[in-house]
Amino acid sequence: MMSAIEASLAAAATRVGDLTPLVYDRLFTHLPQMRAEFWRDRSGSIRGEMLARAFEALLDFAGPRLFSPAYFRTELVTHDAYGIPRDLFATFFAAIAETIEAACGDEWTPAMAAGWRGLLADIDAELATVPGLDAPERLLDPATILPTGAGGIAFPHR
Ligand code: HEM
Repeated sequence: MMSAIEASLAAAATRVGDLTPLVYDRLFTHLPQMRAEFWRDRSGSIRGEMLARAFEALLDFAGPRLFSPAYFRTELVTHDAYGIPRDLFATFFAAIAETIEAACGDEWTPAMAAGWRGLLADIDAELATVPGLDAPERLLDPATILPTGAGGIAFPHR
């Protein structure tokens, strides 16, 4: 049987289609300073890839948990190198949940609300067990490398 989480994703996708712009709009509403962090992502492919992997991991975490606990830990460390503070992961997940709720509209059920609340709380608890950083959080200030002027820097591989 489909879980409430799966049902919410199916309903949201049917009603709205691609959720990517809506999720990132919400993320940047909560964290306006994060917009600049995606300065390399001129085509949107990084944001798309990141959200696709987040959905895969969320579904695994809501189900069999075959890889997601280790994967979330891996991404915390990978994102250290991007200069993303670890506590922002919870905000990203919240932005996803809020987007799904809004997209579901009147198809959003109490079971879906409880499912997402429980899922986000479980992930918080999981990430809280990860040992802290022993290096400065911010390795690179994007303001010092952001493209200036119209057009910016071209990244042909994106
Ligand atoms: C479960 C949570 C997350 C997952 C699975 C994830 C996954 C990924 C992946 C796979 C990429 C590389 C995409 C590519 O190059 O094709 C990426 C890049 C990136 N992520 Fe995340 N991410 C997560 C959370 C976050 C959060 C919370 C933030 C900030 C609020 C963030 C900011 C970024 C940025 C700025 C990049 C681009 C770095 C670059 O310039 O290459 N990520 N993420």
